[in-house]
Amino acid sequence: MAPFGLYIQLFSIHGLIRGESPELGRDADTGGQVKYVLELAKCLGEHPAVAQVDLITRLIQDKTVSDIYSQQIEPLSEKARIVRIQCGGRRYIRKELLWPHLDEFVDKTLKFIKVDVGRIPDLFHGHYADGGYVARELASIFGAPFLFTGHSMGRHKKNKLLDQGLADEEINRRYFIDRRIGVEEEVLKDADRIITSTADEIDKQYALYDNCSGASFRIIPPGIDVDTFHPYYYGQLNAESESEACRQARLLLLNELNRFWVSPDKPFILALCRPDHRKNIKGLITAYAEDKELQAIANLAIFAGIRKDIGQMEENERNVLTEMLLLMDRYDLYGKLAIPKKHDFTTEVPELYRLCASSHGVFVNPALVEPFGLTLIEAASCGLPIVATNDGGPNDIVGNCQNGILIDPSNTGEIAEACRKILIDREVWDTYSRCGINGVRTHYVWKVHCDHTVELIEEVRAEMPDLADQGLFSPLGIGFGRLLTKVKHLVITDIDNTLVGDDESLGEFLEILSKNRDKIGWGVATGRCLRRVMEALAENRVPPPDILISSVGTEIYYGSELLPDNGWSRHISYKWKPEQIMETLDKLDFLYDQKEEEQRDFKVSYIMEDDPELLARVHQVLQDRKLSYHLQFSNSQFLDILPFRASKGKAVRYLSYKWEFPLKSIMVCGDSGNDEEMLRGVTCGVVVGNYSKELEQLRGLRRMYFSKKEYAAGIIDGIKHYRFLEE
Ligand code: GLC
Ligand code: MG
Repeated sequence: MAPFGLYIQLFSIHGLIRGESPELGRDADTGGQVKYVLELAKCLGEHPAVAQVDLITRLIQDKTVSDIYSQQIEPLSEKARIVRIQCGGRRYIRKELLWPHLDEFVDKTLKFIKVDVGRIPDLFHGHYADGGYVARELASIFGAPFLFTGHSMGRHKKNKLLDQGLADEEINRRYFIDRRIGVEEEVLKDADRIITSTADEIDKQYALYDNCSGASFRIIPPGIDVDTFHPYYYGQLNAESESEACRQARLLLLNELNRFWVSPDKPFILALCRPDHRKNIKGLITAYAEDKELQAIANLAIFAGIRKDIGQMEENERNVLTEMLLLMDRYDLYGKLAIPKKHDFTTEVPELYRLCASSHGVFVNPALVEPFGLTLIEAASCGLPIVATNDGGPNDIVGNCQNGILIDPSNTGEIAEACRKILIDREVWDTYSRCGINGVRTHYVWKVHCDHTVELIEEVRAEMPDLADQGLFSPLGIGFGRLLTKVKHLVITDIDNTLVGDDESLGEFLEILSKNRDKIGWGVATGRCLRRVMEALAENRVPPPDILISSVGTEIYYGSELLPDNGWSRHISYKWKPEQIMETLDKLDFLYDQKEEEQRDFKVSYIMEDDPELLARVHQVLQDRKLSYHLQFSNSQFLDILPFRASKGKAVRYLSYKWEFPLKSIMVCGDSGNDEEMLRGVTCGVVVGNYSKELEQLRGLRRMYFSKKEYAAGIIDGIKHYRFLEE
């Protein structure tokens, strides 16, 4: 990676993404967003201020899709690439089923950042709710800013489905929509900026959210390819410059149109849309049909998708097309209205706009609702003036480009009037045409989009607190991820009778940490629940650690913000059935429940007499019910039942895996039986001088140091013993 410039990670997790001939429209998850993020990644990669762009998506290894989706890295250009991260198995699954696997995605991306890249991204940018979730998690881990682009929003979709008569329950069963909405609320609350394509998107979609008012938006429309949609006069000025494919497409179109028109030399009014009643084709035909002058000036051409047999089509489409034919007949528009049956989108559409522009015609989008209005931008780019609905996106387009007239789509007189104005006055036509061509190049090209995005990134980075000052004892405590990717050693200490117990050596230990924050990270691991950890730290005036492992290893938190490690919760939740465990153990009359506050999501705790036979009974009843668990008995009285994947030692191992921290670089310190499991193994073990007798059995093990010093003085002694302060 280039040493200078921004390192940006984009997240677009679902669907199928590849650089070579992307499979747009293959399924509901592989559509416009895929094209958007690919263009964005490539174009950001061209920006001089950018060192590297990683477009991160899910790795898929599945016979039903191409092999390329299982390739971990796919270069897009010199500074841009696709990075694939596996989560939730390897099969291709629809986006709604990915929710439970996103924490796995976060953890593996973390590892990728630490091991493969070795550099912390300057910015995370999430696309769609799932990408937003991942970007938000990573941004909080690294104390970096994050941007969000929703593409579409759950509440809006839910309302539409409710309108269609679907029940709440059914919507959630199919789409897990409430979960999505919950994530979107969180993302809106925390994103440094939200990028939308139009103002309409904010009003109609984001406004439905509780956290909308506090969110900060920036409208940056996406771009189009202006080479494909070049102005109509290129060919006129330099016939040589035109490709053969362009000429052939034009010929095909002319032949097709001329089948319908008696006077093909007139200018024509063009509409291009899917046959959907919301596109209001009826409004346009009626406007034309009821205005005799307009009919005298111009022909009309409506390209409404591809059709073979209207009778075979789906209801909405069939109704729209049938209505179109009936209107043609009712108003007797034979010879004037062209309704071609098919066209080829990639080659013919740009040529169609140019053909219409060459005739000095006009492009009309009379839709009742229009969130964005891509065809208007493409038409404008070719030099075609526009008449467009005053709903949604077109407001922005005409506002930016001044290249046409906005109309009320329900007012047919207004549509006809607007068309006439443009068609009869060559000066007006020329101005709109020129403004469209120039306006698109100023507002709707990817390069401009990326220039604005990079400016925005610089803006949010400038708002971040100075990260150089952040670290172990910062009051903000953000960016522990940054710290953990930087330090070489980690010290994990038990609290009671290890960290605390002797004020003087505790003070010295904290002093050592604060002087060496670039070398040593620090965590605590304890049986206490979170609230009681905070209580102990406050009592002893200990600042928040970088890592906090509480409730006997079942919970992990980071930094002073106490960011929970959701990946860990997910990991240990496997086969954990606390209700059944409680139900089973309630029958044993020698067990006494611990306080309510000590009963946690992943920890069921009792008090019992120190008697091996009773302990055997506990195992017996749990095993009889075939329950998975990890049992821990300590201090001759505490009985903890945990998920079988959890313990203080396993939490430390998980951290080692997740942060790619070699176990040998982690020092663990304790004093009693419940530290034993954490102390064993290849980590650097330290037993403080005031240890309880049950640890005696660890003596003589490799990498197990029995300090003669007590409490925190023992920890300091261990740091020296393992030479953690030396380079
Ligand atoms: C702490 C906890 C308690 C647990 C014990 C042993 O004292 O508060 O719930 O049983 O540690 O792990
Ligand atoms: Mg202890």
